[in-house]
Amino acid sequence: MNLDLSGKRALVCGASQGLGEACARQLAEQGADVVVLARTQTKLEAVCSSLAIKPGQTHGYIAVDAGDTAALSAAVAAELHKGPLHIWVNNTGGPAPGPAHQADPAAYAAAFGQHLISAQTLLQLLLPGMRADGYGRILNVLSTSVKTPIPNLGVSNSIRAAMANWAKTLAGELGCDGITVNNVLPGLTQTARLDSLIGHVAQSSGRTTEQVSETMRAGIPVRRFGDPEEFANAVGFLASPAAAFINGVNLPVDGGSTASL
Ligand SMILES: NC(=O)c1ccc[n+]([C@@H]2O[C@H](COP(=O)([O-])OP(=O)(O)OC[C@H]3O[C@@H](n4cnc5c(N)ncnc54)[C@H](OP(=O)(O)O)[C@@H]3O)[C@@H](O)[C@H]2O)c1
Repeated sequence: MNLDLSGKRALVCGASQGLGEACARQLAEQGADVVVLARTQTKLEAVCSSLAIKPGQTHGYIAVDAGDTAALSAAVAAELHKGPLHIWVNNTGGPAPGPAHQADPAAYAAAFGQHLISAQTLLQLLLPGMRADGYGRILNVLSTSVKTPIPNLGVSNSIRAAMANWAKTLAGELGCDGITVNNVLPGLTQTARLDSLIGHVAQSSGRTTEQVSETMRAGIPVRRFGDPEEFANAVGFLASPAAAFINGVNLPVDGGSTASL
């Protein structure tokens, strides 16, 4: 099975911590030159300098707010002067929790800007290089809410569904150019985002964070939270030449929690 990414360049968004950071580490292990993108420069520098590196491999970072499409475009266009980016892990922070019916309309607009509009902006920048080299791997980090909406994540559920159908449409359009588009759906995985959600539930329910965590773990068939590396393993496979015939799927990495196929 060919998992080798030597000679490929990868852009990993939301990579200063959590799932994105784990994906950057995995893609570097497989030989890709990795560019990590997020807002916090100090964290990006630390991630970038600790990625696996073999002779000839180089890594870099872009510190930018993905919600600022003008700044995002300028920064990624400058990176593309160095060569095409063949693999794109499309990832960013999740919207704040809360019921759908109580969310401010501005929260929906902000989520569309940060997720869908920035993704479309990046897509149009990255496509020419992927097409020219006949190799593209677009991996969207979404959520299992694509399959079953998660209570109290109203804005997130909505934007994930939009992203999933955007991606499925692209998969049909771009496969002929050697570009695959797949969605990887994290279940409950041990990152700062999960800690924050647990804290929110604990505060609103009057329980301790350990009680909330225990209830959440009990609902997962494997009875534990995921490790970011386990999520990154799936991304590393889908990014590789071995996964060339897998296109347009939603892959949950959730320990079996999702109650649908
Ligand atoms: N962990 C889970 O259990 C889980 C489950 C389902 C879905 N998800 C979703 O999967 C995604 C990644 O999850 P995670 O747990 O790794 O989240 P996380 O720990 O909150 O990390 C989010 C990453 O996105 C970056 N980011 C946030 N806003 C940004 C912006 N405006 N522009 C550029 N970068 C931005 C953050 O870096 P900076 O702050 O430095 O910008 C960080 O690197 C999120 O959308 C999350 O909602 C996670």
